[in-house]
Amino acid sequence: MFPVVVVHGGAAKVPKERSEKFMLGVCSSARTGYAVLRGGGSSMDAVVEAVNHMENDPTFNAGCGSMLNIKGEVEMDAIVMDGKTLASGAVSAVRNIANPIQLARLVMDKTSHTFLTAEGANQFARSMGVPEVPPESLITEHSRMRWINKLAAGTNPVECQMDKMGTVGAVAVDSEGNVACATSTGGMLIKMEGRVGDTPCIGSGGYADNQVGAVSATGYGEAIMKVTLARLILFHMEQGQSVEAASDLGLAYMESRVGGLGGVVTVDPQGHWAARFSTSNMSWAAAQKDTLHYGLHPGEDLTQSIEDPL
Ligand code: GLY
Repeated sequence: MFPVVVVHGGAAKVPKERSEKFMLGVCSSARTGYAVLRGGGSSMDAVVEAVNHMENDPTFNAGCGSMLNIKGEVEMDAIVMDGKTLASGAVSAVRNIANPIQLARLVMDKTSHTFLTAEGANQFARSMGVPEVPPESLITEHSRMRWINKLAAGTNPVECQMDKMGTVGAVAVDSEGNVACATSTGGMLIKMEGRVGDTPCIGSGGYADNQVGAVSATGYGEAIMKVTLARLILFHMEQGQSVEAASDLGLAYMESRVGGLGGVVTVDPQGHWAARFSTSNMSWAAAQKDTLHYGLHPGEDLTQSIEDPL
């Protein structure tokens, strides 16, 4: 079994002029997670480091690049799950935190709960000494312009699935065969204040179980929750499907049953991995056996050596 980390930077339409930033971002994230695994670190450490990296990259809809809600504010959701123990930690609708994925991990490690929300989650962050950042530091010029343009264009919840989505996530298997997942998001552009999507909901935005595998999902949260996409894919793996076939079956079911589009990264405890999506693009990267695989368009699988400079 070869340790592996697979990351996604969100299933959504990526304009040509932004594609390089997305590719660089996911490749850099996968390298970060892989460095943890190569150093003997756990799959949980690897996925948290990989997602933390993308939260710090303003390219992505998470952390400092988060989409804005209807009031022009940032509210973020995140989850981690450990496949060895089935322990998980999640936060939703948190504000003024640079790295919600770290807070989700603290919920898992330092409380007897699995999910904290809104002001309670922020209070917990303060009690743990997690620094609060000014709200403006999480808002980029790009996200502000998208918010202004979207408000001007009016809201049509069906018409614009494709351009409102985005999330970051990672799955990994370490040298002991333990699997883990981590997912983090700013949610949907112009979402209602207090709206929580699939990302922090166990079995929807992520799930990890050493007996089956791990999944991190991205896409239209309201649809992902209806079919509990991450757990659905693991169910197909329990029935004997490969990581790739199970991911495709889950995504196809979501599209046919509830009209939802999205993408996933999936691993099994043997180190098999997949990055699959039903949207036109999903930035993703996987690091295994000192090789980096990455892509953005359907069927794309580019490679480079991990030793090569970015
Ligand atoms: N998948 C992210 C969201 O819908 O919030």
